[in-house]
Amino acid sequence: MKMSSINSSTHLTYENRINFGSFYTPQRYVDIVGQWLKAENIGSDAVIADITCGGGAFFALHKIFPDNQYIGNDIDQSALLTAEKYFPFVNLTCQNAFADVSRDKFGISHSAKLIIVGNPPWNDTTSIINNSVKKDIFPIDSDIKTRDLGMSSILSYNKLQADYVAVLHPLSYLIKQTNFKATEDFFKNYELINHIIFNSQEFANTSKMTGFPVIAALYKRHEYYGLSYQDVKRMTFHTTDGKSFCLSKRDYIADYIDKYPNNKRYTPEILFYTQRDINALKRCRTFMTQRTNASVDVDPQKLPLYCYLDCFKRFADIPYYLGNFNVPFIKDTFDIIAKDVVAVSKYYNRSVFGENPNPTEKQITRIKNYISEVVSYR
Ligand SMILES: C[S@@+](CC[C@H](N)C(=O)[O-])C[C@H]1O[C@@H](n2cnc3c(N)ncnc32)[C@H](O)[C@@H]1O
Repeated sequence: MKMSSINSSTHLTYENRINFGSFYTPQRYVDIVGQWLKAENIGSDAVIADITCGGGAFFALHKIFPDNQYIGNDIDQSALLTAEKYFPFVNLTCQNAFADVSRDKFGISHSAKLIIVGNPPWNDTTSIINNSVKKDIFPIDSDIKTRDLGMSSILSYNKLQADYVAVLHPLSYLIKQTNFKATEDFFKNYELINHIIFNSQEFANTSKMTGFPVIAALYKRHEYYGLSYQDVKRMTFHTTDGKSFCLSKRDYIADYIDKYPNNKRYTPEILFYTQRDINALKRCRTFMTQRTNASVDVDPQKLPLYCYLDCFKRFADIPYYLGNFNVPFIKDTFDIIAKDVVAVSKYYNRSVFGENPNPTEKQITRIKNYISEVVSYR
């Protein structure tokens, strides 16, 4: 059996890496989490557990917390061999972490202070990226079942009543309202007491995938006094490269248009591709000539907003940390570029709008300046 390393799942094929969500934590983030936990004065009586531990990256915490009990589990036997070799003091099990979730299952005492660490498997079973290799391969308790293993993991930490949860997860679990709702049972019981945002491409073997924001977060259990989505919208997030951003400081096109296919029809018929987030916009089409089951009918009154999406895709230079945002704009100043975006989109989408005059340099510059102001707005 080929062994993994502590910080990289090199023993797995690409297909299995996707199916198990096996992207191991870089050492740097284990160290950061260690410092956060240290600041919380975690005592030696606390149990530190990673229930999807892979090669055991997080067990390097024993350098800071040498006297604590460590518990590890993973479904991947070969990854556990690595964890066993480098961290022999850990009590390891090899079982599906998502069925019959309880402290007993992992050998954690009911009275123990519990610190869950790790980086759960993220595997959005509905996402179109990589869905050719994703398989539903094990049972999941109904009360933690979601469409993404990472979100199910987050819910399992609440089920285990962890006192602290120090994990890495896609920022989209917090900032996308539908994801937040699906994991609300966790968030309503946990405060976010420390965090840092980084690019998913920092994980080994991901450089060819589009980067998206990942949050390394320390949550503290505070039953019923945790996070609401309103809190998330008002929160300022900080990145490893010194940037910060806040959801509520921008307007979003998605709040003013139809994002998904529906029964509304208009004359003339203009079709646009389903809207998700900025990363999806980068991958997908905008205006469409043929109706498909992903087509949205454009309300002609709102054509400038759709043209703005088309121009945003064309001109915006997007930092990775905005990748899961809806497309932002500034509503109050949109009129300045409304005509410009229509001219540019009509010119470039000939198959939809026919022949139109070439937009001027001034129009293009105005759009680019507007977009860069929107993107850099903190
Ligand atoms: C993103 S990796 C993280 C590994 C480790 N926690 C770290 O931080 O480096 C996710 C791990 O979840 C494991 N995993 C996936 N499905 C699982 C399941 N049903 N039960 C237990 N572990 C699972 C994978 O084998 C993989 O090792």
